[in-house]
Amino acid sequence: MSSEPINEVSKVEQNDVYKQRRTFAIISHPDAGKTTLTEKLLLFGGAIREAGAVKGKKARRHATSDWMEIEKQRGISVTSTVLQFSYKNRRINILDTPGHEDFSEDTYRTLTAADSAVMLIDAAKGVEPQTIKLFEVCSMRGIPIFTFINKLDREGKEPLALLEEIEEVLGIRSCPMNWPIGMGQQFLGIYNRSDRRFERFTGRGEGTTNIQVDDIESEELRDVLGADLHEQLQEEVMLLDIAGDPFDADLVQRGKLTPVFFGSAIANFGVETFLNQFIELSPAPGPRRTDEGLVEPSDESFSGFVFKIQANMNPAHRDRIAFIRMCSGRFERGMNVNHVRTGKKISLAQPQQFFGQGREIIDEAFPGDIIGIFDPGLFRIGDTLTESGWFNFEPLPQFSPEHFARVNVKNTLKYKQFHKGLEQLAEEGAIQVYRQVNRTEDMILGAVGRLQFEVFQYRMNAEYGAEVELTNLPYSVARWIETPNLETLNYDRYSNLIVKDQDDRYVMLFPNEFATHFVIDKNPDVMLHTTSYGM
Ligand code: G4P
Repeated sequence: MSSEPINEVSKVEQNDVYKQRRTFAIISHPDAGKTTLTEKLLLFGGAIREAGAVKGKKARRHATSDWMEIEKQRGISVTSTVLQFSYKNRRINILDTPGHEDFSEDTYRTLTAADSAVMLIDAAKGVEPQTIKLFEVCSMRGIPIFTFINKLDREGKEPLALLEEIEEVLGIRSCPMNWPIGMGQQFLGIYNRSDRRFERFTGRGEGTTNIQVDDIESEELRDVLGADLHEQLQEEVMLLDIAGDPFDADLVQRGKLTPVFFGSAIANFGVETFLNQFIELSPAPGPRRTDEGLVEPSDESFSGFVFKIQANMNPAHRDRIAFIRMCSGRFERGMNVNHVRTGKKISLAQPQQFFGQGREIIDEAFPGDIIGIFDPGLFRIGDTLTESGWFNFEPLPQFSPEHFARVNVKNTLKYKQFHKGLEQLAEEGAIQVYRQVNRTEDMILGAVGRLQFEVFQYRMNAEYGAEVELTNLPYSVARWIETPNLETLNYDRYSNLIVKDQDDRYVMLFPNEFATHFVIDKNPDVMLHTTSYGM
């Protein structure tokens, strides 16, 4: 009798916990400073104690993941995928988006688990290719994108030119939240537009000095900046006020406007200012689409989907972990859930989170959180888990691979193992498998990053006992075809190839992006899609 109202109260509180969650990914091109920025964010969250820069690239070229490297150097376990820490009443989940050699489909899929993205740009390099690809995936989902322009302590492109580049190359409007004064040797700091605060850059590791500027024309600011830079700042800020896009929270939420911040991750300058505004402006977990309508994070019953499966995280235990993005309800250790695809009830017995001192068994989690579950080979990428109901979250799309190879088993006696491995690794999402249309015995592999081939080859041998041979193919682009009639499709049979993907959808392989234009021009009723999204 008396317990009822208490339960009611705690239910309301529980339903609000997700509002504190901020689950995001940092998207960038290698070397823009993602590892450095991540480390600084962790410092603010108190997840690591020691300040100081991550070791140079040369010293860590053997590491396959940057996070593994932070782990080695800091003595903490961040074993990729997700880092969780608390900051100012918020629970932050940073999803790792592997870059460098381990850039793969995982990198893209991880973005489906994020509620927003931080786009990190090197001020000297501007918008780079890997950033464009990752941006496109975020943009397809319509999630908010925040921009941090890094390395202002070095000479780079003019800030206005960078904004123009973002708008032209990525097609998103931008709204600078602060503005840099000088650059490289002359970098003096940033001027925060909303609270009219000038943050003075005093060099690496020296901290910052804040100067409240009630009037941008003030003598005090002129004394600090010198007459020339002071004048330049006034002109540029006026230009932004008059001609720039004003801040519009609604456009930010819909991914149509990106708030832009400037700073230097290595000097830990501008990072705190960014973080403070980011946690206010970035969204808490929102509703997610399913085949039975929307699931709200405040819904009482647990639901989530598998966005990543990682094998052999611990070589000593040949284990597989399925990573689940929680979408609603409250997760409790040992709870029984519906595994929708197989129609089975399963127990989530040993949930793990990957942060702090190694893997931690968790007792509860909330929407926005990522849970790692031991996978005895049950899960597939995109699987839905629910506490009640048998709905499915939107299927995760397949993304255009950039590397293709024909695959054969070396020893034909191992044909059965070969097929089993191929099927399982494709289901796990480790690789994409295509069949040629008229020669179905010909298997073609597609990968977003080359390392995926190596991992595939290794695992086929180690886990299925099938040694495979890969022959590279001269394609670098795949497009899912939507056509009323495949027979009449006008295309160059010498340089393009039509194949079927794992779900029997038609895909055309091209040697390059340019070659796709020919097909588009010659076949006005045909649509080519860069992902299988919505097909
Ligand atoms: P990534 O994870 O995005 O690949 O980048 P990472 O943080 O490893 O940074 C790449 C390089 O850029 C590192 O240099 C790092 O120290 C440097 N860096 C990161 N943030 C800043 C910044 O704000 N200012 C400056 N000047 N440098 C920054 P490195 O590997 O040690 O050496 P090198 O590549 O410069 O030789």
